[in-house]
Order: sequence, then C-alpha cells, then structure tokens
Amino acid sequence: MSDPLTDGHNMAVLGATQTGKTSFARELHAETPRVSIWVNERGKKRVPNIAGTEARSLEGVKRAFARDEWRVNYLPADRNAAIPKLQGWLWEVAARTDRELPVQVVVDEVDRVAPQSGKEYGNLPARDAVRDFTSEGVKRNVKFVGITQDPATYDKQALGNSRYRAVWDMSAERRKAVRNYGFDWREVEAAEQYAGVLHHMRGEVLRTVKAAARYA
Ligand SMILES: Nc1ncnc2c1ncn2[C@@H]1O[C@H](COP(=O)(O)OP(=O)(O)OP(=O)(O)O)[C@@H](O)[C@H]1O
Ligand SMILES: [Mg+2]
Repeated sequence: MSDPLTDGHNMAVLGATQTGKTSFARELHAETPRVSIWVNERGKKRVPNIAGTEARSLEGVKRAFARDEWRVNYLPADRNAAIPKLQGWLWEVAARTDRELPVQVVVDEVDRVAPQSGKEYGNLPARDAVRDFTSEGVKRNVKFVGITQDPATYDKQALGNSRYRAVWDMSAERRKAVRNYGFDWREVEAAEQYAGVLHHMRGEVLRTVKAAARYA
C-alpha cells in the first residue's frame, strides 16, 4: 500500500490553534522525497524554520528548480496572486516531465486563500487554483497539503477532494462543521500531545502523526 504521507494524494490538516499542525507539516516538507514548495507569507504571518531555498518570486522558484534545489520556502509578495501562477507553471512542468516529477505544495492557513464562499460564485482565482490543485493535481503527481484551524471556513470542494485528513482536537462547533467527514473523535482525544489522527476520506483511521521535536 502507498504511504499517505508521500503518495500523490491530497491532504487536509485540520485542528484548533497550537495543536501541532504546522510542526507536522514542517517535517513533512523537510523530509518528503517529493519536490516540495511551501507557499509562505512575508512579514508577521511568515511561518519560521521552513526548510529549503528561499524564493521571493516564481522566477526564484524556477531558478531553484534549475539548480536542482528541490525544497523551496516560497515567499511571494502576495500569496493570493502567487498561487494561481504557481499552479499554472506546475501544470507545465508536469506536461514537460510526463508527470514523472513528484511534487508537493504546502499551504498553511489555507482558508485565507481558499475561503468557503457559500453562494458567492465570484472571481476568486486563488480559491479556484486550490480547487484545481486538489481536483487535478493527483493525476499530475502534485500532492496538495492544506492546513487550517477552521474547516468551516475552508472551501468545501477542496476539503472534500482531499483523500487524507490529518485531524487534531477542535471545538464542538468546529467538529460539527465536519460531522459528515466521519472523523473518529475518540481517537483524536486519545492521541498523545501534539499528535493528530490521519483519516482516509472514507472515515477510516490510518494512524497517528506527530512532528519530531526538532520540527516543533
Ligand atoms: N511534536 C511536538 N513536540 C513538541 N512540541 C510541539 C510538537 N508539535 C508542536 N509543538 C509545539 O506546540 C506549539 C504549537 O505547534 P504548531 O505551531 O505546530 O501548532 P499549530 O496547530 O500550527 O497552531 P496554529 O493553528 O496556531 O498555527 C509550538 O510551540 C510547538 O513548538
Ligand atoms: Mg500553525
């Protein structure tokens, strides 16, 4: 069986603040055998200690690839503008490489770029790009990892497209928002500190996941 942490299927990382989500993803980004791009933010919201070459533009990401630097801490000026462009370029890369380059894209606080928009079908290019990542990335060998504290505010389609869901503790009202996803809250509560429970989209519990302390 393929490994949920490294295969090409998407993962949603869900849980309350300070539960260990970012640390888990920081390790995944640093250790995965895939090419991995963490789409970070500049300034106060920047996630610290992300492995890899720093790139401040898509050109910088391309330069890193050209130098065989396969782990990138991408710090675009505007994440919402950067994500559709990154997606378009990665689709080109997939076409050029016959989809043989295993890629991972990590987006923390993903609800800020892919908000649940309800009945507004307005022009949300970043959300649409996240939908494309989650619906068409798998066949291009592009794994998308989206992290959020509040699954009710993350685009439902993108969340629903994720084969794997790593779940940490969350409040009663947020649990309610994901009641149809079949999460096993007893397993989540029983997990040790900082550990999340990895679920398959069918609701099946796969294993617990937890960052090594050096990534925390
Ligand atoms: N495996 C771990 N071992 C030790 N400490 C950990 C571990 N995972 C997380 N921590 C600590 O817990 C705190 C929260 O971790 P982290 O930032 O990963 O949480 P988070 O779920 O991303 O929170 P937020 O939603 O607020 O961003 C940090 O201080 C981190 O150092
Ligand atoms: Mg975090």
